[in-house]
Amino acid sequence: MPKASRTAPLSQPEQPSQHVVVGLGPVDPAIVGDVLGEDVTFVPDPTPDDLAVAEGAIVRADRHVDEDLLARAPRLRVIARTGVGVDLVDVAAASARGIPVVITPNSGSRAVAEGVLAMALHLTKRLRPLTDLVREGRWAERNSVPVGDLDGATLGIVGHGRIGRRVGELAAAFGMRTLAYDPYSPPPPEIARADPGELAEASDVLTLHVPLTDETRHLVDEAFLARVKPGAVLINCGRGALIDPDATLAALKAGRLSGVGLDVFDPEPARHHPLFDHPDVVLTPHLMGMTRRAMALTFVDAARGVADVLAGRPPTAVADPDWTHRKAMA
Ligand SMILES: NC(=O)c1ccc[n+]([C@@H]2O[C@H](COP(=O)([O-])OP(=O)(O)OC[C@H]3O[C@@H](n4cnc5c(N)ncnc54)[C@H](O)[C@@H]3O)[C@@H](O)[C@H]2O)c1
Repeated sequence: MPKASRTAPLSQPEQPSQHVVVGLGPVDPAIVGDVLGEDVTFVPDPTPDDLAVAEGAIVRADRHVDEDLLARAPRLRVIARTGVGVDLVDVAAASARGIPVVITPNSGSRAVAEGVLAMALHLTKRLRPLTDLVREGRWAERNSVPVGDLDGATLGIVGHGRIGRRVGELAAAFGMRTLAYDPYSPPPPEIARADPGELAEASDVLTLHVPLTDETRHLVDEAFLARVKPGAVLINCGRGALIDPDATLAALKAGRLSGVGLDVFDPEPARHHPLFDHPDVVLTPHLMGMTRRAMALTFVDAARGVADVLAGRPPTAVADPDWTHRKAMA
């Protein structure tokens, strides 16, 4: 247990000059304590007295931060939210008090990218039907399941941001050629494609890494799927509503898609759709960004953001694009 962590009540602090940082929701004290440093007392299970003196808070995704909580924590100087979603945090109210809401957008990127590769390998190497062959003693039928390769195949990335770029890096190690479509953060010209349909026509594996917007809702629809290279694999670890599930199932049944990997659903928790029953579909319950290492990195990034603000340094990422370090310091 690091020196900076404690669970004792605050009425008798170990050192009067200590900053107090509270955890709202389960936060690993061993990880954040090391990052916050010796002059911070981390309180994982705060009482109202702890909240009253807290200068920082590390907040898990399911916890609300509203006017009421801010009023009960009048000395708060920074809130760090694990992950990127701030739906339950009143960012405007925090900003009005000069409190930055730090987010941790980088911590899950590498894990999600690994998840994409796991799905691509599972579907391309046909692990499910091959497992069935061995399990059921159908060895003689083994040539009936064509096994593919990532080596030499083309990866099409929709959304060349943090995760999309990392998928490209991993794919390169498998000998894949990478193409990408992203009009807002243009990929290098040699891999850029001008529209999603052009990308679909050229890709053996298509992977979606865009936010959900009016423009991207049902990006993968009947018209898009009509342009997909026959036999392509489609992977969605972005947001559920990026794909039209009915059109996706029809494309699978027609053989236009050879496999589909989904980590995200619309709505969540996922409601059963006939697509889920297709043998060439692999499903995970929005967990690819929540591996053990990604969770640890999230705590590290959140604690680093808190430590930065308490030390007067600008944090790496904040939810409110209008919040500026200079403004808060003024
Ligand atoms: N499965 C998971 O556990 C998990 C975890 C983290 C993030 N995500 C999702 O993955 C998505 C990508 O995350 P990220 O960290 O790479 O985000 P990011 O912001 O770094 O990248 C998103 C990219 O999409 C591009 N983009 C936006 N609109 C586009 C459009 N209409 N067409 C093409 N490109 C467009 C942006 O320019 C940007 O480069 C997020 O939106 C998030 O919803 C999923």
